[in-house]
Amino acid sequence: MTKFRRIGVLTSGGDAPGMNAAIRAITRKALEQGVEVMGIIGGYSGLINEKIIPLTTRSVANIINRGGTMLYSDRCVEFKTEEGMAKAIATCKKYDIDAIVAIGGDGTFRGATDLTLRGVPTIGVTGTIDNDITATDYTVGFDTAMNTVLEAVDKLRDTCESHARCNVVEVMGRNCGQIALMSGIALGAIVICIPEVPFDEKLALEKIKSAKDAGKRGFVVLVSEGCFTEDGKPYGEVLREKIEEETGIESKFVRLAHIVRGGAPTLRDRLTATKMGVAAVELLLEGKSNRVVIEDDGKITDLDIVFALTTDSMYKNKLKEGALDKFSEEDIAAMKAICDKRKAEIDELYKIAYDVCK
Ligand code: F6P
Repeated sequence: MTKFRRIGVLTSGGDAPGMNAAIRAITRKALEQGVEVMGIIGGYSGLINEKIIPLTTRSVANIINRGGTMLYSDRCVEFKTEEGMAKAIATCKKYDIDAIVAIGGDGTFRGATDLTLRGVPTIGVTGTIDNDITATDYTVGFDTAMNTVLEAVDKLRDTCESHARCNVVEVMGRNCGQIALMSGIALGAIVICIPEVPFDEKLALEKIKSAKDAGKRGFVVLVSEGCFTEDGKPYGEVLREKIEEETGIESKFVRLAHIVRGGAPTLRDRLTATKMGVAAVELLLEGKSNRVVIEDDGKITDLDIVFALTTDSMYKNKLKEGALDKFSEEDIAAMKAICDKRKAEIDELYKIAYDVCK
């Protein structure tokens, strides 16, 4: 077992419900193993600016139920520079921080890799509402975000039905349509538009029209924020206009935006964050580094961060020249299998949505 005296924990990128539960689990698990914990305030910028606080069992009490992140978050541009990185490493040395657990999404894990390369062991814990890290089935915050969408749109449904209207609702998720797709199914949205599946606008309008002709009064349409027209307009707003014009149904546009990112974490997010936080500390104590804690078929396990990030780029068709060169054929086959699994899941859900939400 590797003996660390002190580790740091930070949250970076968009905050996500459940990050606090992860901070709490990391802190308490480490303390229980005799390792001190320093909270780094404001993500990687806290490392650069020396914003460091000690965390204790009591200082992480009463946060498991709170959204946001008690350590605050940031998307730190300076950290991407050599100068910023050097300051961060110097801070780790100055505060005797032997290793770091970084909670966040893909940007956070890229930062973690940079620290590892410069001699600070790191472990990543997923924390993003988007569920857009291809190599994990689940990212902390996703379930809460979907439940928030459900709560908000259920309210819209009531008034849609009363007034025989349509509400086109845009939800977050960056380039990933999973929040829109899964909450759309749970909401009975008649049309769902996500970046991963080509959208047949004509078919969608016909579906709405024929449902109206068959007596349907209230309509909910879910559009992911990652959908745009060819000239770069947010597609949800454009679709609202088309629905009104083509079907004669009075239509409203709603952008839920950051509402989707706040709120008390659900049981699933508190539990997954706790399990992932504990796993992160265990990995560090086993002497592992540059790993990301993931969920695979219900099990908490871990992967090499660079493998996970490369799988992500493969899935998003963003592989840079030579990105696969350092991987074995087995690794590349494993990446492809993960991408195929993800795509098949989305296609299957999209078909279910089309067949059942009428
Ligand atoms: O990654 C989480 C997320 O909320 C995305 O869904 C969204 O596109 C983005 O962050 C918004 O970022 P910001 O809070 O910086 O506007």
